[in-house]
Amino acid sequence: MRTQVCIIGAGPSGLLLSQLLHRQGIDTIVLERKTKDYVLGRIRAGVLERGFVDLMHEAGVGDRMQAEGYVHDGTLIAYDNRQFRIDFRALTDSSVMVYGQTEVTRDLYAAREAMGGAILYNVEDVQIQGVEWQTPFVEFHQAGQCKRIDCDYVVGCDGFHGVSRKTIPDAKRQEFEKVYPFGWLGVLSETPPVHHELIYANSERGFALCSMRNENLSRYYIQCPLDQKPDDWSDAAFWEELKRRIPEEAAERLITGPSIEKSIAPLRSFVTEPMRWGRLFLCGDAAHIVPPTGAKGLNTAASDIYYLYHGMVQHYLHKDGEGLERYSEKALARVWKAERFSWWMSNLLHQYPDQGAFDRKMQLADLAYLEQSKVAQTSLAENYVGLPY
Ligand code: APR
Ligand code: PHB
Repeated sequence: MRTQVCIIGAGPSGLLLSQLLHRQGIDTIVLERKTKDYVLGRIRAGVLERGFVDLMHEAGVGDRMQAEGYVHDGTLIAYDNRQFRIDFRALTDSSVMVYGQTEVTRDLYAAREAMGGAILYNVEDVQIQGVEWQTPFVEFHQAGQCKRIDCDYVVGCDGFHGVSRKTIPDAKRQEFEKVYPFGWLGVLSETPPVHHELIYANSERGFALCSMRNENLSRYYIQCPLDQKPDDWSDAAFWEELKRRIPEEAAERLITGPSIEKSIAPLRSFVTEPMRWGRLFLCGDAAHIVPPTGAKGLNTAASDIYYLYHGMVQHYLHKDGEGLERYSEKALARVWKAERFSWWMSNLLHQYPDQGAFDRKMQLADLAYLEQSKVAQTSLAENYVGLPY
């Protein structure tokens, strides 16, 4: 088999890139270790920056998102029995779109199928070869058969545990990591959201977040110790703890119900540099991870795709290599800003096990400053709705 761009991983990054390139006449094959249903079964965040929304439209997959997504012009921050609103619209003239990652992925699969895009599922033992030379190829097994794809470029969209990043020799890459001493216990329930916007809460008992998917599907999170398991939490215990961490008025209105999904996610900040090695490019979770506090994971993946897509178009359609040459530099410049924002928001809102009285006072002062200062609010809003590409 031969293609122009071989993409490893059919998560949102791989699908979006494949879809954008196909519309420009650039040929791709996507290799996925799992099945489509498996990928669609994963519950992830669902807050899209405006740049991502524009990219979905450019990929021709924006219609359902536009019709069914929820435009959020602000968010609530709660602490110390008080709450205030960050008004994205007034502060930045922008907003975010609440539309689940599962739905984004579903729309991308539908579009790839409608255009006859090549996605090979259940591939095993993917090996990326020759990317430091002119003639890369990818070898893998599928249904017991050994297969090979020759290509111009390989793009690693295979998430944090994929093979692409590890293909780059240790001596050629540097990794930066911070692991946080807590996780998020998340619950999905078929109940109306407690509020029409998100509530991020810093409570003495730990962080809590009230989010949503639609009018009858809510997503809630509470900070929990890393040694706990989802089964340690009955639904009743979860709701009780959530109520104790959010403003009283919201706790009184909270409608509870059975959880339809319950999981614990660890929090990590991670970046690998560079994001390109010869003819191999890394995108999304394969190259970087953020803690979910600023909702930047999917959005930062999308900005990588934006830079790589434009680099590929420049190369194939205009015979200009500048975009590909500078991909890593451009992507990383934005990645680090998203890392900073996610780290800052995480520090602002969580209780740390080793947090002393002074650290707590600093957090409360930071929150009080944010509540009172339009400049501080503008900074949060500007980052939350997404920095320009
Ligand atoms: N071979 C083929 N496919 C692989 C391999 C492999 N060796 N390893 C992983 N994959 C597949 C996974 O099964 C998965 O479907 O790559 C895909 C990677 O998808 P994601 O992990 O969702 O990563 P990405 O597409 O970059 O999505 C951006 O940002 O913060 C997150 O939640 C956000 O998942 C979202 C991500
Ligand atoms: C979610 O809805 O799952 C969600 C929203 C905002 C975040 C993280 C997760 O910051």
